[in-house]
Amino acid sequence: MGKNIQDIFGYEGKTVVISGAASGMAKSAAELLIDLGAKVYAMDLNDIHLPVERAFKADLSKKETIDAICEELPEKIDALFLCHGMAAWPGKEIKVQLVNYFGQKYMIEKLLPRIVDNGSISCISSVGGFNWQDVVTECMEVIHCATFEEAIAWYEAHPELINNSYMFSKQCLNTYIRSHAHTPQYTGRRIRLNAICPGHTLTGLTEDFAITATGDKETGAAAVDMIFLGSWNGRPALPEEMGYPLVAIGSKIFSYMSGQTIYIDYGLTASWEIDTLI
Ligand SMILES: NC(=O)c1ccc[n+]([C@@H]2O[C@H](COP(=O)([O-])OP(=O)(O)OC[C@H]3O[C@@H](n4cnc5c(N)ncnc54)[C@H](O)[C@@H]3O)[C@@H](O)[C@H]2O)c1
Repeated sequence: MGKNIQDIFGYEGKTVVISGAASGMAKSAAELLIDLGAKVYAMDLNDIHLPVERAFKADLSKKETIDAICEELPEKIDALFLCHGMAAWPGKEIKVQLVNYFGQKYMIEKLLPRIVDNGSISCISSVGGFNWQDVVTECMEVIHCATFEEAIAWYEAHPELINNSYMFSKQCLNTYIRSHAHTPQYTGRRIRLNAICPGHTLTGLTEDFAITATGDKETGAAAVDMIFLGSWNGRPALPEEMGYPLVAIGSKIFSYMSGQTIYIDYGLTASWEIDTLI
């Protein structure tokens, strides 16, 4: 009784950093964070048109760029959201890994000392990261790469894995969350680490996913619809159907949840999972 929604989320006056905020899910998350009273620092490759404290326009697949932005970010961060991502364009297999996974891991580890006690780190993974268990050994090898150079050398030596470049990048992210959330660096200061794994959502990436699925926009869109919507005559999600849950899991509402990769896909992966078990 007597609680207001602002207090339940707990973002009022808090310092929040979010990537990918020019578009899609992260944009809707950033809008909600601003409405909830957070001081938002946003980053993207493209211009960010939101009333944030500060916007950084930069390519977050590069170590030097991430280092430069981290210099400018606040000394104490309450919640970090890593949301930027790209589709699996042919010829960009390594770039996809650096954008969707390795650069994010690098940024998480660089900023972890600045996340306050009881703070949170939340990422956007994907249904594409399903079955991470099948490649967990390989994901752990990438996770153990200490530098960008080491990671790039590993990727170059494993073309068969990064051929499926989008999936492998998100499988690495899912493995990272699972393998790190319960380590002393996190539990010692009660910092939570989670991700959402969205299904098919209408965003800036929708057309890219269609083209990269088959090489052609129309047939690709039909193939994506068949995979994600065919079994339930479904509809794609709206950006806020991912952005708002993301804001929730980074908030006080989910203060006892860590190490989770939450599939938000209207039950699709639940059905894949049960089909393999029964
Ligand atoms: N849209 C979907 O169906 C879907 C499904 C599952 C997962 N995802 C994931 O959701 C996340 C958000 O994407 P979205 O669907 O909202 O798409 P979006 O294109 O609307 O947003 C992604 C943002 O990331 C930014 N970005 C891309 N590369 C970058 C880089 N190198 N440096 C900095 N910023 C960069 C883009 O400029 C863009 O603003 C991504 O991680 C994506 O992989 C999307």
